[in-house]
Formats: sequence, C-alpha cells, structure tokens
Amino acid sequence: MTSIVLTNDTRDLGDGLVLRWSTPEDTDALAELAGAVFRDDGDEQPNQVLMDVVRRHMRGDHPLLGPTDYVVVEDTTADRKRFVACACYQQEEWTYDGVSLPVGRPEIVAADPEHRRRGLVRKIFGVIHDRCARDGKLVQSITGIPYFYRQFGYEYAVDLGGTLSFPVSLLPEAKAGETLPYRLRKATREDVPALIACYQQGQRGSLVSSRLAEKYWSYNIDAENDPDPRRGYARVRIIESVDGEFRGLAVTQGSGAHFRVSLLEFAAGTNLAGMRPSLLRGLVELAGQQLPNAPDTEPLGRLVFELGRDHPFYPMIPAEYGPRLDPPYAWYVRVPDLPAVLRRIAPVLERRLADSAMAGYGGDLLLDFYRSSVRLTFTDGRLTDARDEGPTDRQDKSPRASFPPLVFLRSLFGHASLEELRAGYPDVGADGTAGPLVNALFPKRPSRLFAP
Ligand SMILES: CC(C)(COP(=O)(O)OP(=O)(O)OC[C@H]1O[C@@H](n2cnc3c(N)ncnc32)[C@H](O)[C@@H]1OP(=O)(O)O)[C@@H](O)C(=O)NCCC(=O)NCCS
Repeated sequence: MTSIVLTNDTRDLGDGLVLRWSTPEDTDALAELAGAVFRDDGDEQPNQVLMDVVRRHMRGDHPLLGPTDYVVVEDTTADRKRFVACACYQQEEWTYDGVSLPVGRPEIVAADPEHRRRGLVRKIFGVIHDRCARDGKLVQSITGIPYFYRQFGYEYAVDLGGTLSFPVSLLPEAKAGETLPYRLRKATREDVPALIACYQQGQRGSLVSSRLAEKYWSYNIDAENDPDPRRGYARVRIIESVDGEFRGLAVTQGSGAHFRVSLLEFAAGTNLAGMRPSLLRGLVELAGQQLPNAPDTEPLGRLVFELGRDHPFYPMIPAEYGPRLDPPYAWYVRVPDLPAVLRRIAPVLERRLADSAMAGYGGDLLLDFYRSSVRLTFTDGRLTDARDEGPTDRQDKSPRASFPPLVFLRSLFGHASLEELRAGYPDVGADGTAGPLVNALFPKRPSRLFAP
C-alpha cells in the first residue's frame, strides 16, 4: 500500500482509506468508532462511557484537546461517514523536579477489528509524533495496553496508578450525635487558586508531576454543575474544618463500586490522623452519590485510593481495616530528542551534581546506547553541552554508561536506580567514574504522576 501525501497531514492510504485530522463534524462518527471498539465483544452494546468521552473532547471546551485534535482514518467507500481507526492528541505539561516539560499525549487509540494489523495505528502515531515535533513537545506519554507502544519508541518509565484499598465494611459506624471535625464540600471557581497552591505543595516530593492549570480545575467544577448528564467530570472536593478553614483537596472518579480517590493533597501542617475519620466518612458518602453520566448499580465494596505506590495518607489506614497495596503499572514515555531534554533539565542536573561526591566535575559522560550515544560535557560542574553522537568508538576513554536503547529513560525519569537496571539488564553497565556520575545525575526518585 503506497501512501500519497494530499495536503500537509491528509494522506491517501489506498483502498479508499484517507488519513487526516478531525473536524467538529466528525464527532458522531468518532464516537461510533470508539463505542464499537472499546467493548469486549461485538454483541455487546456500544461503550457509552467512551462515546461520551469522545463527545466531551470534541465540544471545544476540554482543557487538553479540541475538535481538530483527533487523527482519523476514514473509509471513503462507505455509504455514510465511517472511521476505521483513530487516536487523539492531548497537550499537557509535566514538571521534572520543577522544570517544565511540554508533553504530547496520544490516547483513545482504536482500530476497527476488520482493519487491524495493517499499520493504520502506526501511521496515526507517525502523524501525531510529527505534530509533537512541530509543537515543541519534548516528551510523549501514553497510558496504554501492555507492550504495544514499545513498537513506536515508548518505554515504561514513570509509575502509573498504584492503589491502597480496604473493605468499607471494616470502617467503624458513626456514633450517634457525633460531630466530625472536617467535611468535604464541592469546590467552586473561587477555590481554584487554593486548589492550585495545595496541589503544587503536595506534589513537591514527586520527581515528575502533571501541571494542572486553572482550566483543568474550572472545567471539572463547571461540568459537575452542568445539567447535561453526559458532561462527565472528576469530582473536586475541598477538605475543610467545620469552621470552613481550607485543609486540603480530594479529586474522585466514578461512583459506587467504581469510585476511587485519584488525588488527595493537604494544606501544610494538617494532622492527618485527626482528619482520618472525617475524611473516610466523607469519601464513603460521596461514593454513594451516583454520577448521572455513569450510574453504577453496584455499591461501594472497597474504598480505593489510587494515589501511587506511597502517599502520606496511606500510613493513616490502620492495620485492622485490612489495607491492601496494589503496585503501580507504568506510563509509557517517548523522548525523541534526548539531548534537548537533558539541556532543558540542566539546572536540575547541575544541582544534583553539586550535592554529590562528584561536585564540580569537569569532563565528559558518554551515554552509550550501543547503536547511538549522547555525550554530556561538564565544565566546573555545569552542563555545557549535550549532543547526539553515533555508535561510540571503543578507544574513547571518556567515562561511559551503557544502556540498551530506551532503557536509559527509566534512569532519566527516576523509575529505577543504576543498580536495579544492572540487575535486570546484563547489558547495562558503567565504568570508572561513570557509575558515581550516573548515580548523582539520575537518582531513583518516586513520582506520583496524575493523569488529567
Ligand atoms: C491495539 C490496536 C489499536 C492496534 O491497532 P492496529 O491498527 O492493528 O495497529 P497497527 O497495525 O498499526 O500495529 C502496529 C504494529 O503492532 C502490531 N500489533 C497490532 N496489534 C497488536 C497488539 N495487540 N499487540 C502487539 N502488537 C500488535 C502490528 O502487527 C504492527 O506490527 P508491524 O508494524 O511490525 O507490522 C487495535 O487492536 C485496537 O483498537 N484494539 C482495541 C482497543 C485498544 O486496546 N486500544 C488501545 C488502548 S491503549
């Protein structure tokens, strides 16, 4: 199948298939494809939740994307508008130890069963990656099905999810006449500055963090108040004392059996043990309030905190509640221009170096990926150059750290230490001063990276 470029991003893929960016008029056909693809078998009803997600994306007020941000493959031979593959392009921002990284995130990746394994999604990703390059997105990320996205240059490099849960039946009954010191209340637009400040403060310990702009908060707050039951939203709640003092925030998804707490941050100086009974009761009550867009007939069985591998609130759940920790999956990450990212985070690297036994280092560090390499040059502890080089010359005596292609991303994003990588990959290694340099520059650091 040859592909002919018709316009900038519109391609004739042959057999009547045309690849292009979406328009607002594509909403119904896109929702139809998503509804048909995201179900377990073809006899089931279309997936209404996914159809609503697509419609929300296409409305024009979504914080991450708009109606022209899907790549679609249209079957132009069909007697009505029909799409056979799609993916959307979300624009996000991460911070890496405080430094901003623009991110392009493909999601809603779908191909109609009769058109699979013909490279349609590979082509869609090619177009999205070109757009990311044009838009200066230094990083691409996706929360995706196992293995598949490795084929497009992605590596698992940041924790995704990870939960603590316990059966609500083990929560003590409220005592008659008892007044609890804290409560949850629906956030309003006036709360947005406090929400942003509290979120940023809570995320300080996370190496990689999603920047949640004002738009994210106001979108969800407004959507909850919208009478259209299909709007869909995360419920944003303020945790406050009975006197109305701001003590934190909770963001929750779903209701009933699908309820989960996906963000929980506290104002500095909050006594979490004292807050626990009020907060748990408030959350259980919220779980019982059905969401109009996704009513759930199953009641809440386990209270799920989807807050990562670890969270300040986890130790507050006593052993008698039988808490269970389920480990995280991982974000897929793609970094098409590694030197550009290393240059961007130079202040972080220089700070780490200055705080290490390699303070003031001058010289090179060769990151050897076997078929390619990146050379970092330091002068008096400052990163003065980061550049791509081809396969390394074995005669080059610069300190060398070797990684199979892409595995280095796990180091870069703090997912694993050099020692852990060495244990898992016999072809990871560091000679001479490269070991202490890599340990200083790329330490293992946890991330609680929220998916907006
Ligand atoms: C997963 C899915 C999007 C793949 O679409 P597709 O159009 O068949 O993908 P492509 O043909 O472009 O596949 C690219 C490569 O991956 C291979 N591939 C396809 N499906 C695969 C799978 N499930 N696992 C591993 N490899 C797969 C293809 O053979 C192809 O290999 P090649 O380039 O070496 O020939 C499609 O099967 C689908 O819609 N599944 C249901 C919805 C879903 O799970 N979406 C992903 C949500 S994160």
